[in-house]
Formats: sequence, C-alpha cells, structure tokens
Amino acid sequence: MSKNPSEFACQTCGYASAKWLGRCPECGSWNSFTEEKSRGVPEKRGTRTETKPVRLGEISSSDAPRILTSDAEFDRVLGGGLVPGSLVLLGGEPGIGKSTLLLQIAQALQRIGRRVLYVSGEESAQQIKMRAGRLGSQDADEIFVLAESNLEAILEAVAEVRPTDIVVDSVQTTFSEALDSAPGSISQVRHVAAQFLTLAKREHIPVFLIGHVTKDGSIAGPKALEHIVDTVLYFEGERHHNHRIVRAVKNRFGAANEIGVFEMTGRGLIPVQNPSDLFLRERGEAVPGSAVVCAVEGTRPILVEIQALVLATQYGTARRTATGFDYNRISVLVAMLQKRMDIPIMNCDIYVNAAGGLQVDEPASDLALFAAILSSFRNRALPPQTVLIGELGLSGEVRPVSQAHLRVREAAAMGFRRCILPAGNFPLHDPVENIDLIPLRTVHDLSDAIFAV
Ligand code: TYD
Ligand code: MG
Repeated sequence: MSKNPSEFACQTCGYASAKWLGRCPECGSWNSFTEEKSRGVPEKRGTRTETKPVRLGEISSSDAPRILTSDAEFDRVLGGGLVPGSLVLLGGEPGIGKSTLLLQIAQALQRIGRRVLYVSGEESAQQIKMRAGRLGSQDADEIFVLAESNLEAILEAVAEVRPTDIVVDSVQTTFSEALDSAPGSISQVRHVAAQFLTLAKREHIPVFLIGHVTKDGSIAGPKALEHIVDTVLYFEGERHHNHRIVRAVKNRFGAANEIGVFEMTGRGLIPVQNPSDLFLRERGEAVPGSAVVCAVEGTRPILVEIQALVLATQYGTARRTATGFDYNRISVLVAMLQKRMDIPIMNCDIYVNAAGGLQVDEPASDLALFAAILSSFRNRALPPQTVLIGELGLSGEVRPVSQAHLRVREAAAMGFRRCILPAGNFPLHDPVENIDLIPLRTVHDLSDAIFAV
C-alpha cells in the first residue's frame, strides 16, 4: 500500500473506487468521481473511552426525558420532542427554509432555558442577526452565533461556550483540516458528521446538521449520511407554495413519515393547525378528475385532494406525469383500468397530482387515484363530500388498509358525508357518526358506487 492512499469517491452516493470511473456502478451517476486524499492519519484514535459489555437488564432505563422545544409541530416530527444526544439531519433545497426553521428552534430552545450554539459557514453573524429579528427576537442572550466553517475551530468553540444544543449550517460547508479533500466532498461530509456524532453522544448534546439537497432529491453527496445520523428530516414539496412540509424519513426515536406542516410568513414558519383544511382549501365545486383520500402520514391522518386530467393523445406516445405520487404506481393503475374495466385508456395522456405539493406514497391512496383517473376519463365528477380509501391488488381487489377508523374519523370531522372503503375494513371496530360507509370488494363495483348516486 502506498503511504498516502488516495481513492476516488462518487459524490452522489459515496461509492469508493481505487481508480477514477466515468460512471458510478452503484448509482449510475456520470462524472461524479473525485479524488479524495487522506493524510494517512485521518482520525485520532486517542480519544477512545473504556466501554464494557453490560447485561441488558442492568442498563438503567432512566434515560433522560425528551426536550420539548416549545415548537409543538417540530416536536411532533421528532416523535414527541428532542432526544438528548441525538444527531438530526435536516435536508432541503436551497431557499426552502432550513436556516429559518433551525434558528426558530434555537429561539424556542433558549426560551425554555437552554443555550444554543448556531454555527454558520454560509452566512455572516449580521445576516443571522437580521433573520433573528424577522423571527421576532433579536436579543437572545443564550444563542451564540459562530460564523465559521473550520471543524476544529467549531469544536474549540463548543468547548468554550458549552452549549446544550448545537446547529450546524451546513454540513457541506464545514470542513476538517485532517482531510485534504474539498469542503462538501463525501469524505469531508462524512468526517464532519462522524465528529458531531461523537460529540453528541459523549456530551449528550442534540446536534442539528443542515444538509443541502440537489435537484434529484438526495442530500448532496451525503445520502451517505443517512445511516450515520439518528433522525433524517426533509423539507418536502416546492418553494412556490407558502406552506412547508417537514417529513421525518428516518427516526430512531419515533414514527418515520411523521410530518410537520408549516406556513412561511413574513415572521418565519408558523405551524398549520389543520393540515387537511390546507390541502383541501382550493378545492372548488365537484369537477371531473378530482377525488379525496385520507392518507396517514406518521401518526396523523390528512385529507388530500387528488387531481387527474386524462385526454386523448394527439400524436406520438402517450404522456404521463405524476406529481406527489410514484410514477410506477400510476402506470399499474392505468393498466388495471384498461384490463380490468375495459376502459381504452392506454392511448391517453394522463396527468396526476396531489394538491398542495404533498408526497403521497401510501398504497391506501390507490383507490382514490384510480377513481380520479376514471372520473376524468368519463368526464363525470365524483359525488360531493366523498372520501375514498383502499389499496388495489393487481386483479382488481380492494385491499384493507391500516388505521381505517382513524381515516374515517378525520373525514367525518372535516365534513365529509360518504366514505368508500375496503370491504375488509368493514365494519369499523368503533362506529363513526355522521358519515355513510360504502364497502367495496373489487374495482368492478366502483362505477356503481361513485356514478350511480
Ligand atoms: P432560508 O431559511 O434562508 O432557506 P435555506 O436555509 O433552506 O436556504 O430562507 C428561505 C426563504 O424564506 C427566503 O427566501 C426568505 C424566506 N423567509 C420568509 O419568507 N420569512 C421569514 O421570516 C424568513 C426568515 C425567511
Ligand atoms: Mg440556509
């Protein structure tokens, strides 16, 4: 082995190779390899602490209680508050509100008597001060701002300030002198994350890392970070909406897929009290192609309007787009419409989206998607005040969904009067008032259920 080993790493997925490659065999990215030299002694081993195996029964379960940040929506996403010593990665596109959210959380934390170190390698201290002013409190004595991107300097500041919580904005701008590679390269990002992980676990300090996400949706380079950290939060949806959805895609301490819904205002991010209301807000009169589903995100039921537009392809191949849904799922549903219901839809352009920019990946939304596409094709609106839930199997059977009761209750609470649901979920273990339940066994019965009323 050479004294100075160097390797090439894919900056998208972290795949390592001894030689340069034009295309990554792991993730298929082109031209994504850069050389990453290490100095031979990248990490000090001297900080090892003595740990011995302990019997499970002997470990005290009196783990520190969760910290309620006083931002209830954010606490929900974290699975019921912040866990001491946890490393949280917050990803999102540039400009979506990552710095805003975490500065707000820093303020929330200082309100409950904690001391936060906000490290920024992206903005000057003055810029952060200005943002804090917009968010409502400028004279925060227990928020320390450090405009620094050198990891060693940051760790020194941590030792000096002794914060109870740390925000690092961003993991891509922070770099360590121990490595030769450029800031933001995969080895730097990993090294920085590993150092903060050690710090978090050793000092029981929660650490937030902000990570930029590239267009294709991965946290730039450090998709590789997801397994290191305890919790991964992503900003979902588009910047063009005023509301912002923060989703926990991974959480060692709570339900994955839990979402927090915020509205971006002139004074920062305000929690949205009733997300169903938001996602149904712009729904007008009953129009063909519109259907409402009750999805469960994490532990919370949310009503979402699905819109479909189907029209005959003018020339060439049929166009399909899906915003907020898995494209492949749409293809399967379209194939089922053609095959199971004899609807000549294969030669149609089909556009589907979830209103409000929510990502709905739940199989329980199949039936509503199917109904929306069918409704647009037939150019007939679904009956008003109707919610559809159900997963579809390939032979057209409507499969039971989880948490049916929770979904129906939310639909009734939001003023819906009719719910088409899988026969397998019927009857509900607890009755729900003010809503008619229409059990459905196969998609063949769907037309009767929706167009015969
Ligand atoms: P920012 O948090 O800087 O995004 P990121 O760190 O993800 O790059 O801010 C995003 C946008 O939010 C920016 O265009 C300004 C806007 N904004 C508001 O609308 N209201 C506010 O109170 C603040 C602080 C920002
Ligand atoms: Mg920022």
